[in-house]
Formats: sequence, C-alpha cells, structure tokens
Amino acid sequence: MALRKFFVGGNWKMNGNKDSLGELITTLNTASLHDETEVVCAAPSIYLDFARSNLDPRISVAAQNCYKVAKGAFTGEISPAMIRDCGADWVILGHSERRHVFGESDELIGQKVAHALENDLGVIACIGEKLEEREAGTTEEVVYAQTQVIAENVKDWGKVVLAYEPVWAIGTGKTATPEQAQEVHEKLRAWLRANVSDDVADSVRIIYGGSVTGANCRELASQGDVDGFLVGGASLKPEFVDIINARA
Ligand code: PGA
Repeated sequence: MALRKFFVGGNWKMNGNKDSLGELITTLNTASLHDETEVVCAAPSIYLDFARSNLDPRISVAAQNCYKVAKGAFTGEISPAMIRDCGADWVILGHSERRHVFGESDELIGQKVAHALENDLGVIACIGEKLEEREAGTTEEVVYAQTQVIAENVKDWGKVVLAYEPVWAIGTGKTATPEQAQEVHEKLRAWLRANVSDDVADSVRIIYGGSVTGANCRELASQGDVDGFLVGGASLKPEFVDIINARA
C-alpha cells in the first residue's frame, strides 16, 4: 500500500473576521503540529490574502469554491487563477452546502474540478449522501455517482483529495462512527481500483468530514482507509490542533 500523507483541512465556511481569524492563525502558527500531517485552511475568499499573508508557510490555504472558467462577466465569482494569485494552492469543490444550499449540480462541480486542476490548484472534492439516501440504502449508489463525475474530470489524481462527508453528519454533532466511515472509504477505494487504477486507489487520500472534533478524531484516524479530515466547526477552535495531531 502506498504511503498516504495524513491530510487535515479546516473549512472556515462563512465565519470570522480579521480579529477572530487572526487569533486562530496565531494559535495555529505557534502550535506544535505533527510534521507528517498536511494542513490546509479554507478561508472565505475575501480573506484568502489575509490568511496567506499571516499563516505560517507550513500551513496551506484553500478557497471554498471557484468558478469553471478563467474570467468574464460572472458577477460575484472567483477564478482558480485569482486564488493562485493570492498564494492559495487548494480549492474545496462540491461541498454539500454548495450542492444543497446553492443548488450546484454534479455537472457544474465536474466542470469546476477540471478547470481548477488545469490551473494547477489542488482540489478537495466532496461527496456524501443525505440522511434519506442512507436510510433508503442508497449510500453507495450516491457516492459512486458523485465520484464518477469527478473522475471524468480528473487527469492528474496527484492533486486531488476525496472528502467523504455524509450530509447528515455535517454541522449536526452526529459523527459517522469509525466503522461507518471506514466502510464507505473502503468501498470508495475499491471503486477507484475498479474504475481508475490500482495506483490511484492506493495513493489518493480519502478524508472524512462531518462533526469531527478533538474528542472523536483519534478513533476515526485509526481506521485504515481514513486518510485525514475536513473539519468545519472545530477548525475555528484551538482543538483543531488536536485534530491535526490525531495520528501523532
Ligand atoms: P462540521 O463541517 O465539521 O462543522 O460538521 C464539516 C464540513 O462541512 O466540511
């Protein structure tokens, strides 16, 4: 099995201001962070520059979304080139809030993935089933279909992290159990093996997101196919350091 570097992303969502994010950044900059963990903080787009100028260089910066073309009359949108211009290296795409609050389709997410990768951004590509889909027993079907559209738009998997985020676990305090997370991650890896390649299946980081906290991160991190986390609420608190160090 290829060695997959543990990956922890903090998704600040639409939270904070320069004061509170500045405080968080000071906490992260001065903390002892496991050097075997890749750490990325996803700032609101208006604070990308602020985050990049203030965060220690060992922490990467991500945008939380971007558009599918380089420039033009798309009021309110930002391009991968702009994200790179602010010194950020990553973008989160397909987050469940983009899918379900803003109605982004699989097709649009796929186009964004392709354009971000062409412009040399790393992509944290999010997938995950809703509660009713899990209850109807269609979790696999849903996450495979979402992964398929992403896969059709990826040429270089070296720049992609797949984030499994069950929608029912996001911001609800209802974390997937380590067994539930492992089960889906294992199946996603098998899907990659069958539909992409052995090499990609062995090397792509599949991270878990949904109510990850300092208290539950270690047990989740001990699962063989859980290669890190995408963290919302807890990424705004000092316990984010404990999550970064979950495998230390
Ligand atoms: P949460 O959010 O950790 O607050 O559940 C996770 C996410 O949306 O990435």
